[in-house]
Amino acid sequence: MTTDDQLVLAETHGRVGLVRFNRPKELNALNAALMEQLVTALEAFDRDPAIGCLVVTGSARAFAAGADIKEMADASAVDMLLRDNIARWDRLRMLKKPLLAAVSGFCLGGGCELALACDLIVASETARFGQPEINLGVMPGAGGTQRLTRAVGKAVAMEMVLNGRALTAAEAVRFGLVNRVAPVESYLDEALALAAEIAARAPLAVRLAKESVNNAFETDLADGLADERRAFYFLFSTADQKEGMAAFLAKRPPQWQGQ
Ligand code: HXC
Repeated sequence: MTTDDQLVLAETHGRVGLVRFNRPKELNALNAALMEQLVTALEAFDRDPAIGCLVVTGSARAFAAGADIKEMADASAVDMLLRDNIARWDRLRMLKKPLLAAVSGFCLGGGCELALACDLIVASETARFGQPEINLGVMPGAGGTQRLTRAVGKAVAMEMVLNGRALTAAEAVRFGLVNRVAPVESYLDEALALAAEIAARAPLAVRLAKESVNNAFETDLADGLADERRAFYFLFSTADQKEGMAAFLAKRPPQWQGQ
């Protein structure tokens, strides 16, 4: 494989697995090959017990400027259906470890939907979040009408999706779309530091807690509460629960085993 074929670059930072988009000239436009490499790299980190949290990032100029317009400009509906590139996104949903997006610059269309599919977002002050598909005669296709609406509410989502309004980083944090904003020089370090903190926590509790929070968007309250309670009780079968509570009572730091 040549460097040109490497559309993403994977690296580890302690217990954090970082995947960087590597199509800078195209502002990290998400073509099918890039998405396949991204999902494959994230799945490998997800299987690796030495990794506790995943981070995806682009460059300072662009997290990702959307799905690759060149790749789909001439496609028919049948082409799109048969290619079913968006099916690959379901694999992102199946990741068990927390996935954090470190976003700077353009975060548009599929890029914004990708950030929204992550569990946490750390943005640089230059980040711009938008769903400009309407300007291309289409609409969001990978969660932009669903996850965005759940994140920012109907009023803001309608303006973004119907009229291509982009949010600044300051707006995005105010509307609850992102967790925190940092200067462009340090947003990635801040994202890696947050990911490292999560990666240092009890892995089974983190896994079930992520699943339960995401479940809040999938189910009604009674089912969500019942699932949460089962997960909570289940954690009392883990060595980490015994360790965490014993360590608290002994006033010492816990040593997690992920068991
Ligand atoms: C393919 C893209 C691209 C994209 C940028 N490029 N965005 N190529 N798909 N989404 C390419 C440009 O063609 C150009 O290539 C190079 O990247 C640099 O971009 P410029 O336009 O020259 O940069 P600039 O003037 O700074 O403008 C930046 C920009 C603009 C505002 C982000 O590029 C833009 O509007 N991009 C499209 C954004 C968009 O509509 N996204 C939604 C896509 S649809 P050349 O070869 O000319 O140098 C979508 C649907 C998702 O995402 C469905 C579910 C997956």
